[in-house]
Order: sequence, then structure tokens, then C-alpha cells
Amino acid sequence: MRFSIIGLGYVGLSLAVLLSERYPVTIYDTNSEKMNKVLKKQSPIQDVYIEKYLKEKKLLLKKADSLEEAVHDKDFVILALPTDYDVQTQSFDTSALDEIFKTNLDGTSTVVIKSTIPPGYTQSLREKGFRVLFSPEFLRETHALYDNLFPSRIIVGCDDELKEQAQIFAESVRECTCKENVPVEIMGTGEAECVKLFSNTYLALRVAFFNELDTYADLKGLDTGSIIRGVCLDPRIGNFYNNPSFGYGGYCLPKDTKQMLANYRDVPNDIIQAVVSSNQTRKDFIAKRVYSKIQANQTVGIYRLTMKKGSDNFRSSSILGIIQRLQKEKVSILIYEPLITEGRTEYGMITHNWNTFTREADIVLANRYDEQLERIKEKVYTRDIFQRDE
Ligand SMILES: NC(=O)c1ccc[n+]([C@@H]2O[C@H](COP(=O)([O-])OP(=O)(O)OC[C@H]3O[C@@H](n4cnc5c(N)ncnc54)[C@H](O)[C@@H]3O)[C@@H](O)[C@H]2O)c1
Repeated sequence: MRFSIIGLGYVGLSLAVLLSERYPVTIYDTNSEKMNKVLKKQSPIQDVYIEKYLKEKKLLLKKADSLEEAVHDKDFVILALPTDYDVQTQSFDTSALDEIFKTNLDGTSTVVIKSTIPPGYTQSLREKGFRVLFSPEFLRETHALYDNLFPSRIIVGCDDELKEQAQIFAESVRECTCKENVPVEIMGTGEAECVKLFSNTYLALRVAFFNELDTYADLKGLDTGSIIRGVCLDPRIGNFYNNPSFGYGGYCLPKDTKQMLANYRDVPNDIIQAVVSSNQTRKDFIAKRVYSKIQANQTVGIYRLTMKKGSDNFRSSSILGIIQRLQKEKVSILIYEPLITEGRTEYGMITHNWNTFTREADIVLANRYDEQLERIKEKVYTRDIFQRDE
């Protein structure tokens, strides 16, 4: 079985590493630096298992110098390209994927879309004659390869004509996992597209629920931790994925919930709309709460722009929404973020100097707490009740 993977981000790279222990995998990304790093056994993203596997395992990885070379003579061409939400069209921007289907795709290979796409996208490509499957991806950033080695499920969407290809693909992925009895579900393409969007909308709903619980407890002077522990001892609810934050964020939940809501435009709903608006309400609340705790001319310190501990990016991080709201009120802000160059940036003033940061900030906002904050804990404002990410 020969694979190629187009797009070496969190999704593409983790799959490339997973599959290449067993199969030859050709990688292609418009960012050639990323490909070269991977071939030198260095991970371009922060992920413990990817770093470990690149260093320790014999992987059958090679790079292609062009898209044409990447897609030539392969059994499966996997697409793991970005699909940002476009507010103008109220849909994911699928242009990076569309471009691939304009190139000379080998008639014998089957394309597997791993990017999150709007419902109906796979079917529209089938109608144009492409051999294409959709397989949703469920990994978490910072645990990308781990989640592929120990997947909760493997789902492949296809029509009747491509059912055998879907089964072969699912079986090839399953063979590379480290988990016994991984559930495999083969279903229609529209259903598989919906599994991805409903899964993320449910996760966002759960985050929004525990955040609203925390808003209530905070305003009423109650202990959030006690309430959540008591609620979650019910096994139907469960003691997981229940840690309050400044709002849900990261690359996927904000954009996937917006896509889901856009698809409900002609479908009666209350909950889907509420998931999206609840996240705005939560950020409004957090910003107001912070504003009420400071005096004029005081500086608000922001401890990290990242969404989770150990993350290496801050795409749609909830703290960015808090910063915007405080900036509207002309609050002076200083950000401690070692991942960006110091000085004035699009996010605000960045410092790497811990002493300057802790001296100048009158209050320090942390979406996620860290031991580093221990020495200034009386200044810290966080809603990270259980100090964990999931
Ligand atoms: N990040 C996640 O946690 C996650 C989880 C599940 C699903 N997804 C979905 O998977 C898709 C990819 O997400 P990601 O986080 O891996 O994205 P990413 O931004 O980390 O990686 C995308 C990669 O594609 C490359 N690229 C862009 N245009 C290209 C082109 N035309 N040809 C070749 N390479 C190109 C970029 O250089 C980049 O390396 C998205 O649709 C996302 O919604 C992401």
C-alpha cells in the first residue's frame, strides 16, 4: 500500500508518522522547511509522541518536490489541508482542497479527505467523477500522534461504489494503531461529515455548559469545584472534560461550531445557536470581571496566548477575545509569551522578561495555570479550577 499525505500540519504529520512505520509514505507541503525538518527527524510541531517516533523509529518517509510527484502512483492520497471558516460565505474555505482536485490526479489512486469539510463537499466531488472518501480526524493538538495510536474510532465515509476502498483504508490505519478492537464505522459521506461537526459541537457544548456553571457560581459566591465534582460523580455525566476556562478556543471548536450553525440555517434549533453565543457571553463575562478588579492606569498581564499547556500555537485562543474586549476599554496590557518576538505586535505588547512582566502587571490573567505562576499567585486571575487540560 502506497500513501501520500498533502499538508504536514497536526493532522497530516501525525498520520504520516503513524502510517510510515508500516507503509511507504510520500509527504508534500508547500512549506518545504517543514518537510526538510521532518526528514531530519525533527518535529515542526510540539508533540511528545511525534518527536519520539521521529527520533526512535525507522519510518518509511520520503518527500515529493511537487504536488504532481506526490500524487503519482499511490493507492491513497490523503489531504490534510486547512479549512478556515469564512464569515463572508458562512462556510469553510475549501480552496486549498479545491486546488488539489484541479491538478492531474492519478486515475488509480483514491483521495481521502482528512480536513474538516462542510456537509455535502465529498458528494459534490463524487458527482464530478473523483474517487474520494472522507475520514474525519479526532486528534487533540499536543497529543496528535497519541490520539492516532490509540484512536477512539476510525470512521470512513463513502458511497456503495467505493465501499471496498473505504474498508481497505480503514483497515490499513487500524493496523498501525497500538490499540486492540478499535471501532471502525463505514458510513455515507454526508453522515461522516456530520459525525465530525456534531462531535466538535458537542464538545463545545460541554465546555460552554461548565463555563456557564462557573459564571453562576462566581457571581453567587459559590465554590465551582465543589459543584462540578458533585455533578460529575453521576456516571451519566462523568468527571472529565469539565474544567472551566475563559471560553472554548483553538483551531477547531470555534470554526466547526460556526459551520454547524450555518448548516442549521433552515433547520429549527436552539442549542446549536446557544453553543456559539454562549462562548461570546463567557468572554464578555470574564472581561467584565477583570475590568471590575482593576483601577484606572493599572496594567493587565496576560500569561501566555496559548489555549492549552504545552501548546505551540494560539489559533483562536480564548484569551485573544479577552484581550480585544479589554483593549476596547483602553486597558493597558502586557503579554508574557515566549513564542512571539518581543515588542509591539498585532496582539499587544509582548515581553519575554519574567521580572518586568510580574513587576508591571497588577493582575495576571491565565487561561491555564502553571507552576511558574506560583510565586505571584495572589495576582493571578484564572478559572482553571482543576488545573488540567483534556
Ligand atoms: N488541528 C487539529 O486539532 C485538527 C483536528 C481534527 C481535524 N482538523 C482539521 O484538519 C485540517 C488540517 O488541520 P491542521 O491543524 O493539521 O492544519 P495546519 O494548519 O496545522 O496544517 C496545514 C498544513 O497544510 C499546508 N498547506 C497549506 N496549503 C497547502 C497546499 N495547497 N498544498 C500543500 N500544503 C499546503 C500548510 O503549510 C500546513 O503545513 C483542517 O481542516 C482542520 O479543521 C484539525
